[in-house]
Amino acid sequence: MTTFWSTWICVLTIGSLIGLTWLLIGTRKGETKGSTDQTMGHSFDGIEEYDNPLPQWWFMLFAGTLVFAVGYLILYPGLGNWKGILPGYENGWTGVHEWEKEMEKADAKFGPIFAKFAAMPLEEVAKDPLALKMGGRLFASNCAVCHGSDAKGAFGFPNLVDNHWRWGGNTDTIKTTIMGGRMAAMPAWGEMLGENGVKNVAAYVRNGLAGLPLPADSSVDLHAGQQAFGTMCVACHGPAGQGVQAMGAPNLTQPAGFIYGTSLAQLQQTIRHGRQGHMPAQTELLGNDKVQLLAAYVYSLSHDATHEGELALDKKQ
Ligand code: HEC
Ligand code: HEC
Repeated sequence: MTTFWSTWICVLTIGSLIGLTWLLIGTRKGETKGSTDQTMGHSFDGIEEYDNPLPQWWFMLFAGTLVFAVGYLILYPGLGNWKGILPGYENGWTGVHEWEKEMEKADAKFGPIFAKFAAMPLEEVAKDPLALKMGGRLFASNCAVCHGSDAKGAFGFPNLVDNHWRWGGNTDTIKTTIMGGRMAAMPAWGEMLGENGVKNVAAYVRNGLAGLPLPADSSVDLHAGQQAFGTMCVACHGPAGQGVQAMGAPNLTQPAGFIYGTSLAQLQQTIRHGRQGHMPAQTELLGNDKVQLLAAYVYSLSHDATHEGELALDKKQ
């Protein structure tokens, strides 16, 4: 702030304070003592004003606000370029500095805890109740928008609670996924296959690979679908359609793990236009220590006792 504006604000503020003090003391001087029956002489709609002194509490309240204002302006920034005599407001008073102070406090408090977990193997962290609680909080604020607050996913967003992994479900792979993010690239096959080709392959994926029934009246050529799959899809999805995690190409024999739907229409859509699922990288946003807790949390979702039943089922399939 320039000196001119600083002076301008000081003159206005101090002037107002002096003016108000004068008003308060000035009106008190001419006041009658005690209550009277005398009116001030004006009447509005039958309401008249008695010539009584200001109530004591009102006077004290007014005086109190003046004292507060003076004290506040001495202690804190407010009067032009004056920084206040309390330490910590050298840069003026903005919410940013308050926030930075809070963050410093939080870092001092949680830093050592984060560091402890960062140095532990992930399998161990995934068994620590405090780490899981912290990981759960981080998940709720950073991941739930896409994966759901129960981590069960939604259309286009994988379920992280089950045992179907597109990129891999061991601790290190989960951490790599969260740190660096993932870009899945399923090409569009519409032009290459033609409309009938798309229908045949979609039917083969649904029936031949995923084991789901086809409508009785469908007139698709499953054999042609299988052949097309053998030439165009196995490079990524594997010879038996079991998926290749290094490419994020999902296992097509486990329909429970599909994120783009299993109906014929949805499968055709996927094959015709392709899919590009994008998991955003978190390293820069959250840093290694927080990702460590998140990885442990995500790992625990499919590896704790309550999911043991589901896992056993998955393995049998
Ligand atoms: C270049 C590698 C590649 C090829 C070739 C490829 N896919 Fe894919 N496919 C992927 C990837 C990667 C994904 C995951 C896309 C995503 O998660 O967004 C995917 C996803 C899918 C899905 C969706 C599964 C779900 O989760 O809903 C289906 C169905 C599918 N592919 C079928 C096929 C068929 C049929 C072919 C051959 C015509 C084929 N893919 C060829 C890489 C490939
Ligand atoms: C903007 C939406 C979005 C956010 C936010 C997001 N994810 Fe994802 N995530 C995705 C998508 C989409 C995929 C699937 C990528 C693909 O198609 O292969 C994915 C995949 C994953 C996978 C791999 C699943 C597998 O089957 O291999 C993990 C693990 C994961 N996310 C964890 C997280 C965690 C932890 C967070 C919070 C830090 C998070 N995600 C935040 C969209 C998101």
